[in-house]
Amino acid sequence: MSGNVTFTMIKPQAVADGKMGKIIDKIIEGGFKIKALKYTRLSKEQAMKFYAVHKERPFYGSLVDFMTSGPIVAAILEKDDAVAAYRKYIGSTNPADAEPGTIRALYATSLEKNAVHGSDSDDNAIIEGNFFFSEFERA
Ligand code: CMP
Repeated sequence: MSGNVTFTMIKPQAVADGKMGKIIDKIIEGGFKIKALKYTRLSKEQAMKFYAVHKERPFYGSLVDFMTSGPIVAAILEKDDAVAAYRKYIGSTNPADAEPGTIRALYATSLEKNAVHGSDSDDNAIIEGNFFFSEFERA
């Protein structure tokens, strides 16, 4: 059975571009309920840990630099089949392939600066949500 939560981050480029409010509105319009929300900035150590699964990839260093370059918004979202529903809603990782109207098609500027992160599995949604939020920070 699919889980009903996923985790997202609005990335530094989208926040710097002033798109934070529009993206949060779009998330809510898509029927995702916000269970937790945080505006913060990742340290290098935190970004390295969050993206550790990619540590052997050639883009890892650049990704860590980018993700620590400014504030981000982290959120836990709830919806039926949340992981798959949200991945469809945000569009392909590479915005060049993202369906028109998706968050990445609207707000990404490159493959790296692709506006938002979305968990790729139920297990990772739990791990990533726990990375950012205590029980007290969830409603
Ligand atoms: P995200 O969904 O946050 O998961 C890993 C991130 O790495 C991805 O979005 C992109 O921002 C980035 N990424 C994935 N593939 C590449 C790539 N080939 N080159 C540069 N960045 C990438």
